[in-house]
Amino acid sequence: GTIEKFVDELPIPQVLNPVSQGNDSAYYEVEMKCGSHKFHRDFNETIIYGYNGIYPGPTIETMRGQTVNVKWINHLPLDHFLPVDKTLPGAMNNPEVRTVVHLHGANVAPDSDGHPEAWFTRNFADVGPKYSRQVFEYPNDQQATTLWYHDHALGVTRLNLYAGLAGFYLIHDEHELSLDLPKGKYDIPLMIQDKTFRADGSLFYPANTVPPASVHPSVVRAFIGNTMVVNGKVWPYLNVEPRKYRFRMLNASNTNGFTFYLLDENNKRQPFLQIGTDGGMIRKTKRLIEFPLDPAERLDVIIDFSKFAGQTITLRTEELNLQGFPETFKEDVMEFRVGLEVECEDESKIPIKLRHFEKLKPKKMDPKPKTRRFVMTEDQDAQSRLMLTINHLMFHDPATETPEIDSVEIWEFASPIFNPNSPLGIPPNITHPIHPHLVQFQILERQDFDINDFNEQEWINNGKGIKLGKKHPPDPSEIGWKDTVRVEPGKVTRIIVPFKNYTGEYVWHCHILEHEDHDMMRPLIITEKNC
Ligand code: C2O
Ligand code: CU
Repeated sequence: GTIEKFVDELPIPQVLNPVSQGNDSAYYEVEMKCGSHKFHRDFNETIIYGYNGIYPGPTIETMRGQTVNVKWINHLPLDHFLPVDKTLPGAMNNPEVRTVVHLHGANVAPDSDGHPEAWFTRNFADVGPKYSRQVFEYPNDQQATTLWYHDHALGVTRLNLYAGLAGFYLIHDEHELSLDLPKGKYDIPLMIQDKTFRADGSLFYPANTVPPASVHPSVVRAFIGNTMVVNGKVWPYLNVEPRKYRFRMLNASNTNGFTFYLLDENNKRQPFLQIGTDGGMIRKTKRLIEFPLDPAERLDVIIDFSKFAGQTITLRTEELNLQGFPETFKEDVMEFRVGLEVECEDESKIPIKLRHFEKLKPKKMDPKPKTRRFVMTEDQDAQSRLMLTINHLMFHDPATETPEIDSVEIWEFASPIFNPNSPLGIPPNITHPIHPHLVQFQILERQDFDINDFNEQEWINNGKGIKLGKKHPPDPSEIGWKDTVRVEPGKVTRIIVPFKNYTGEYVWHCHILEHEDHDMMRPLIITEKNC
């Protein structure tokens, strides 16, 4: 049957209490375990994996400069309730349920970053080759922003996240507090995910859809759900006061990229007032009528409901057009019902100026940033399945990205448009959200190129063999510090990246989890200065 929309109230994830607290530090314990969760009024309770058994996980909040230590404990079963592909790296000859936690966007040492091979199983019984510690240390030495923590175990990340292993992590700082933004119960994180359910309300994830069917279950190329889930409820509503609210919007979907907009009862679009990107506050508040948000990206916005008392505003997303995906994608996300009375006078502000932001200008830099070039490529794996790669390299191929600490680099990603009639079932025109760990970077531009006159190898080696066309500035919503960038098909996307604070071994990858698990991930090794 059809699933009724807007019948469940939006849950707000609880803020986690520390086990102990010092002057400049706090210690937490988080237990990953099975939970039972109701996604919708008309569904049965169903199994999820959750941090502390809940989904989304509890929110961790901290001030900048306070050290947070977290012992991440695995009390999950050894067998997964979702279909595990045993041919993927990390999944061979290992227990199905392996976990490791990555704090996405954090400035953190490599041994607390949640390397995909630092996984551990129930009670640390089995551990991966890069495992080194039980308690992760987060220094929170970065500006106020919205981070999120999620699972990152090699070969099963897509399943662990889909099962519920994701939560918010908010860093505040003095400057942010001085701005009088909406706070407390008027500052609400929104974890947005698409999911598909069986008739009984249990989570559905496909076991195999792509030929050849020699591997079963097999990783899929993409996952597009047919419902929208926000903070754990399908198409929820939120009762709000006619005043300003701050929403920290996160796309925590496996594959799906969205373009969000707000619609009032007269079918008129209403603005978001953007205040931040992935890495923190932008320079000035920006009025946006819509914005794209791909997996792992965050956008910090204020919505002012003060003129909408008694009305309903709907958060919606543009319809996707992925050929090869027959599911009709639902446009509604959630409803804001401006039905509550104003409790106390709204003293929050919408500042014009938010914070100092220094734009990185490569032409003015000395020494000149080193440029690295990457192509989003197609290969076949050992089972003859199509596999997406970066420069035709797999995760276990030797590291090629070894920037020096305190250097700045330009990374260029060329993404050809894939064949829409590919017998292998690849969705054409897919945007890859690329995420290097540890860093916050800036987007320089995107530039069209002629995919029919492109010599991949020549371009990677010396920047030739390409016919470049029109340049496009970053989308207005992307001007700021970013940790995830949308690499669009048919374009070269350029970012500028400062490498600082830590040396050691991290990773970078496509944040479409089905791509990340099937080898669109590479090592990132920050090296000592070469004097
Ligand atoms: Cu949000 Cu490497 O991940
Ligand atoms: Cu991808």
